Amino acid sequence: MTGAVQRAEILMEALPYIQEFHGKTVVIKYGGAAMEQTDLKAPFARDVILLRCVGINPVIVHGGGPQIGAMMKRLGKEPRFVGGMRVTDEETVEIVEMVLVGRINKEIVGLINLHGGKAVGLSGKDGDLVRARRLGHRLPSGETVDIGLVGEVEAINPAPIRLLEQNGFVPVIAPVGVGAAGETYNINADLVAGHIAAALQAEKLVHLTDVGGIRDQDGTRLSTLTKKDAARLMEAGVIEGGMLPKVESSLRALEGGTAKAHIIDGRIPHAILLELFTREGIGTEITL
Ligand SMILES: Nc1ncnc2c1ncn2[C@@H]1O[C@H](COP(=O)(O)OP(=O)(O)OP(=O)(O)O)[C@@H](O)[C@H]1O
Ligand SMILES: [Mg+2]
Repeated sequence: MTGAVQRAEILMEALPYIQEFHGKTVVIKYGGAAMEQTDLKAPFARDVILLRCVGINPVIVHGGGPQIGAMMKRLGKEPRFVGGMRVTDEETVEIVEMVLVGRINKEIVGLINLHGGKAVGLSGKDGDLVRARRLGHRLPSGETVDIGLVGEVEAINPAPIRLLEQNGFVPVIAPVGVGAAGETYNINADLVAGHIAAALQAEKLVHLTDVGGIRDQDGTRLSTLTKKDAARLMEAGVIEGGMLPKVESSLRALEGGTAKAHIIDGRIPHAILLELFTREGIGTEITL
């Protein structure tokens, strides 16, 4: 009997959180790295369905860097990077759109639907969701380089997301933006997630990635990180590479009205549930 009671108590631990988040929006960035773990794809889909079933509105924004690189190789095109950013010519952006919108987005949508949820995939072009402009990329030397069709978010139109939320669907968003002349832009998924969280006034923005959180100079995971500490660690080069856009995205969301931003380990089974429904939480919380 005690085992059964304990299980019921674990369920009850979630009650205050379910009450708190009921009817609220949670934006989840599903990282390319976390996504590659095949055995965690179905549990991820089921976690998302559980959130929806207890009245929370999850919105998924996905990445896909490694998958784009692999497809380019298959098509005989060598990926090129300048200062960590993918050089994106016409042909590359075509591949980016094919992989993100055609393959990865539909895979996630398919998994959620297969497990009994209702997901609808959108790219930034659908309903003018993500309006973008060309990003001027500045190197550490100060020199600005043209990296092609890489965009930055100009504006988010939250209407298509709200429409889906109100009708019980889970929006799954590919980070492709549309320019003023209809051109396609490849945009960093972390930054798209931050802008969407702000536009939706989301309760939370959760980045699922392939590390346990943000580490300081000693390699110790930080359970909270303030804007001031983040600036210091970025200046010192302790926060670098793929973590930079996550911090920028989190700060953008918080400044735009999102209540909380977290960076957590997507390789842990049910990471989202642990973050949302337990006292301890996991990963790093970013605060202003
Ligand atoms: N201070 C830091 N603490 C933790 N990780 C850091 C830090 N600085 C840089 N990183 C790097 O950031 C990486 C996470 O970002 P990355 O872009 O690789 O993954 P992702 O965004 O989840 O996937 P994708 O970009 O494919 O969607 C970590 O694997 C780590 O190498
Ligand atoms: Mg990344």
